[in-house]
Amino acid sequence: MRKGFLLLFIILFISLPLLRAAEGMWMPILLKKYTIEEMQKAGFKLTAEDIYDINKASLKDAVVGLGYNGRPFSHFCSGELVSDQGLMLTNHHCAYRAIQKHSTLEHDYLTDGFWAYNKDEELANPWITASFLKRMEDVTSEVLKGITDEMTEEEREATIIENQKSIIEKTEEGTHYRASIKQFFAGNEYYMSVYEIFEDVRLVGAPPSAIGKFGGDTDNWSWPRHTGDFAMFRIYASKTNEPNEYSEENVPYKPVMHYEISVKGINKGDFTMVLGYPGTTEQHLPSFAVELKKNHINPLRIDLRGKRLNIMNKYMEKDKGVRIQYASKYAGIANGWKKWIGENNGMDRFETIKNKKILENEFELWAKSNKAYQGIIEAYKNKYEALTPLQEGFYYAIEAVLSIETVDFAGQFSRLVDDAKKEDNQEKVKKDIENLKERAETHFKDFYTPIDKEITAEVLHVYINDAPKAYLPEIIKEIDGKYKGDMQKYAKKLFDKTIFSDKEQVLDLLNNFSSKDYKKIEKDPAYQVNDHVVEFYKENIQPEYANHSDEIDILDRKYVAGLRQMQSDENFYPDANSTFRIGYGKVDGYEPRDGVAYSYQTTLKGIIEKDNPEIYDYRVPEKLKKLYKTKDFGVYTNDNGEVPVCFIGTNHTTGGNSGSPVLNAEGRLIGINFDRAWEGVMSDITYKPEICRNIMLDIRYVLFIVDKYAEAQNLIDEMIIVK
Ligand code: ARG
Ligand code: GLU
Repeated sequence: MRKGFLLLFIILFISLPLLRAAEGMWMPILLKKYTIEEMQKAGFKLTAEDIYDINKASLKDAVVGLGYNGRPFSHFCSGELVSDQGLMLTNHHCAYRAIQKHSTLEHDYLTDGFWAYNKDEELANPWITASFLKRMEDVTSEVLKGITDEMTEEEREATIIENQKSIIEKTEEGTHYRASIKQFFAGNEYYMSVYEIFEDVRLVGAPPSAIGKFGGDTDNWSWPRHTGDFAMFRIYASKTNEPNEYSEENVPYKPVMHYEISVKGINKGDFTMVLGYPGTTEQHLPSFAVELKKNHINPLRIDLRGKRLNIMNKYMEKDKGVRIQYASKYAGIANGWKKWIGENNGMDRFETIKNKKILENEFELWAKSNKAYQGIIEAYKNKYEALTPLQEGFYYAIEAVLSIETVDFAGQFSRLVDDAKKEDNQEKVKKDIENLKERAETHFKDFYTPIDKEITAEVLHVYINDAPKAYLPEIIKEIDGKYKGDMQKYAKKLFDKTIFSDKEQVLDLLNNFSSKDYKKIEKDPAYQVNDHVVEFYKENIQPEYANHSDEIDILDRKYVAGLRQMQSDENFYPDANSTFRIGYGKVDGYEPRDGVAYSYQTTLKGIIEKDNPEIYDYRVPEKLKKLYKTKDFGVYTNDNGEVPVCFIGTNHTTGGNSGSPVLNAEGRLIGINFDRAWEGVMSDITYKPEICRNIMLDIRYVLFIVDKYAEAQNLIDEMIIVK
């Protein structure tokens, strides 16, 4: 009996890595060493070199990291090339800002969709960049050159920064590539990514929101899902096929690699692989950090955002123009809000804090015979205790005061104030003014005073009552006293007095600016609130906060190094950090709760079932209904003759993976990643294979919409579609 037990135990133990196969965001250059065999066992038919090779075209070359001009390395989404003319697929929600910026009441591309039926109609977005990973390198030893144990953390930091600078300089020299070095395993290792970054990315197509955002924020983060979350861009290059800023002279980029699209279909258990740029995960957070996040920060952000969303929603329902104005902002605020609710649920359900504590106890036991790692847990505890009110103070300021659009906008005038105060500074002032005029245009295009006024009253009320008193700026206390807690009264007064909620007054100031006018700005109540809160943060929160964070960084470095030694037979993967990663898994449903089983696929039939003209998020476009009725499905059907829409799998993904290509065992495109399922969104902190699912758009639905709904044959013709 006992022996049997032991055997069972051993079998369970040995098969553990297999059970865990779904978890992980693997680095392309380490595939060959650590991961490829597991992937092949899971069904992958190609080799590590087929995914990542620096000498010949490989699958990585068709993956796009989408960034912002000026900050190209913090990818906000991923994408993939699907034609030899730079045609790129990503998510509708990744293109949302672009679509929204081009939308007006006359050309409402958010509502009606947008399709370029020839290249002249494509729309420029000079603020978006598209990066391709050329290669990745382990630069740990160069980055840590000259580092000694005797150094203070500042000295260490400074040396690392210097080393990185010179490595990057050397790498970029004589090329048009851009290099970025990031830390991995909490600073125990460093890797450099070398990119080719394109700056002319044009909008080619987007379905109406009733398709691309079907289900809206109601269905966001959930399964079953029916969102046609895709959009298309085209990357443009110079005549020599190199990156160039937007120019009419540019031509479609000719890539070394673009994906073939498979319409063969998917079945339960099929191998899937997601390539892209996951943003942040925090799998090794200590229990104290999880407590801070789960019990303090998430709740306050959920509360404040929930209140703002209610107010926005009220006005958006009443007025179509306001809906367009606030659509993108609303989606952004709602996305975090809903995720944190799910994350907290998941951490409760899977007892994350308790399990972290168990691991920490084990670690301390282990550290008894590993001297270098003693005292870490205790130090964590002290640090996070000290950090808690500071972090609360910080997030209250961000999610309350600085979420007031008028206060935030006023703050953008601080540079002008500073520059105008100095003598002989005409040139700078002129530049500031030009810059602010542009900002005013964008700001007021999407601004509606009643929303901001009502939000002001609401968030300040919460701020005053709930934020830690020690971290409440003086000016807020004064306002509270003066208005006896009546924030509605204060909000009314603020909006009566400030010029920053009124476009004409702002432009008037800017157009007739004389150097003494900085005084007008400084006297403005919205500017004052911003200024005081920011100053308060700089003086009373930031320095201490930074000290604790620096020390936590050191602890993290040691803790992760220790964990890797303690669990030396585990295959560790580094936390996501906006660098290229590979996730793999299989098509599979899950059981969200007792007695309920979800299948892995949804279809157009389900869209028709959800149709409800009464609910904004569930209005199905007439044309789509007609296509369904006449069964005009082309080749885009599953075995039951239905058009597949979304599917789920066990690939480990996170924010930033949106728009990522989903490839099958042969390396062909079968879908686009766009979300995770509600019950598993705690996977950034703790991944549970039984319940964590990524949500993907079936590529056949994309083609169906482009072909049958948009009738954009020009785009279909560009792609390689295989059975
Ligand atoms: N949850 C997805 C992601 O994190 C989609 C967000 C956009 N969609 C939305 N309804 N807000 O980005
Ligand atoms: N929608 C997310 C994104 O924009 C992906 C969902 C997730 O967080 O996994 O990247």
